[in-house]
Amino acid sequence: MASSYKIAVLPGDGTGPEVVDEALKVLKAVASKYGKTFEFTDFNWGGENYKATGVVLPEDGIETLKKYDAILLGAIGHPDVKPGILEKGLLLALRFGLDHYINLRPVKLYPGVSTPIKDKGPEDIDFVVVRENTEGLYAGSGGNLKKGTADEVAIQTSINTRKGVERCIRYAFEYCRKRDKNKTLTLVAKTNVLTYASDLWERVFHEVGKADYPDIKRDYAHVDATCMWMVKNPEWFDVLVVENMFGDIITDLGAMVQGGMGIAAGGNINPEGVSMYEPIGGSAPKYTGLNVINPLASICSAAMMLEDLGETAMATDIEDAVKWACANKIKNLGAGKMGYGTREVGDLIAEQASR
Ligand code: IPM
Ligand code: MN
Repeated sequence: MASSYKIAVLPGDGTGPEVVDEALKVLKAVASKYGKTFEFTDFNWGGENYKATGVVLPEDGIETLKKYDAILLGAIGHPDVKPGILEKGLLLALRFGLDHYINLRPVKLYPGVSTPIKDKGPEDIDFVVVRENTEGLYAGSGGNLKKGTADEVAIQTSINTRKGVERCIRYAFEYCRKRDKNKTLTLVAKTNVLTYASDLWERVFHEVGKADYPDIKRDYAHVDATCMWMVKNPEWFDVLVVENMFGDIITDLGAMVQGGMGIAAGGNINPEGVSMYEPIGGSAPKYTGLNVINPLASICSAAMMLEDLGETAMATDIEDAVKWACANKIKNLGAGKMGYGTREVGDLIAEQASR
């Protein structure tokens, strides 16, 4: 633990800056309680900057970010920029450039938050998805032949390396051990169809588990069935480990199960490097500047950052404040339905967390 942290802040597009502001407010408030300081440095990368300068990510961007202790990201995505440019050029470029090989996405229903899943409560919905974050279909391997013609061919290949699969699986086993819930790690894949890629995941999963994690129970679920169980029996899950694309899909489902995008946070993690924390939801451009967007996901992502920096007490204070606000104050997590504005929710959490 250090006494001061250098944090790179990438507010990004749409409502990103508004939610990040509230996360920073909360961080400052808890830090002063523990006599710690944060030094925040803003980077204006995103849609507006791209429109003005033509630059998505500056050439030295990755090297610059490596000098920080962690990165907080608001949201990437601009209605006037063609889909793919910012997502691939910025968000994925950061994930790949900083080798964020883990995308950690907790799915936790807080008391007072309503879930669309009938008859399930906070004791049932509490699991964590460990998504591989640098390979699979996201590796960008593929191409077109005869593009735009009737004979067009499009190929997009899922890359799964032994090294990439193993480091992700090891992280998930470690995380599961540390989390200490049911000590059950579920591999999510599609072994009945993806007989090369899922097969590699399955072999590594059992090999590593048998050799180094005999205390962790190994479970398996096909990805389609996982979607079913997440709705039908979410209480079965403790930690799930999954390749990139399947992980992207099941974590949107997870976000809904835990009450919505308003509270879904995630971390792009390089355990040996500089990690980046973000709300799972997008830039929600239609709500920009209205003080209606829910900042809890961004605030929770800041708590995840603190946890990884070793600042468990500060992280717990924030999480407890979020739980308290959900149980006692905030009516609904949806934008404009909270009963408070964006800034007011930030004030509530900042005040409660720094008590
Ligand atoms: C996410 C997002 C990204 C992804 C997009 C914006 C590239 O959906 O963080 O889940 O697919 O990973
Ligand atoms: Mn996604």
